Amino acid sequence: MKKIVVLVSGHGSNLQAIIDACQQNRINGHIAAVFSNNADAYGLQRAMHAGIPSCFLDPKAYPDRASYDIALFKAIDQYQPDLVVLSGYMRILSPDFVQHYYGRLLNIHPSLLPKYPGLHTHQKAIENGDKEHGTSIHFVTEELDGGPIILQAKVPIFEDDKLEDVIQRVQSQEHNFYPMVIDWFLNGRLSMKGHAAIMDGKVLPPQGYASE
Ligand code: GAR
Repeated sequence: MKKIVVLVSGHGSNLQAIIDACQQNRINGHIAAVFSNNADAYGLQRAMHAGIPSCFLDPKAYPDRASYDIALFKAIDQYQPDLVVLSGYMRILSPDFVQHYYGRLLNIHPSLLPKYPGLHTHQKAIENGDKEHGTSIHFVTEELDGGPIILQAKVPIFEDDKLEDVIQRVQSQEHNFYPMVIDWFLNGRLSMKGHAAIMDGKVLPPQGYASE
């Protein structure tokens, strides 16, 4: 069975969606381990409750990002993952880490990339008066939030929305679609070639497989 390693920094609701999908055979694979850069990440508890090996690796124990990331990929490699999934992992990755898992490293980002890379994406969308927002699932390259997009899911923003409303609406799409994309990858339907995402042998458009 194909193996997934998941990296989390926080609440881990996407991790939970992936755990549930594996348990319900909606993902043709299993989570071999969960890693975090944050000892207090609730995602680590979710892994423990699901009986998945979990590990906190302390960034403060390493002199710089490069050495932390080398220790991280050595620890991850013990599980021989077919796919490494960033799931609310809020730490910039070194080029060595990205290269090590090139083509088998996915991220989910809460905006319709290339709009709003980085942080506070929902707030920015509301402040700019955007009528829609969403989430992007993409392969990771060295460009922050810049790798080839696999899928985007859009949500509306209504006039009386609070920040929390928009976050919830986006996250419910994330929970639907991240497990599905992971399953595509593990079933060999999805790959990265050059700077393109390939699905069933066809290059996906820049916005990925679009879903409303
Ligand atoms: C998710 O909404 C994900 O898109 C975002 O963090 C949240 C984590 O939630 N990721 C990023 O902002 C990465 N740039 P979760 O911990 O409940 O899954």
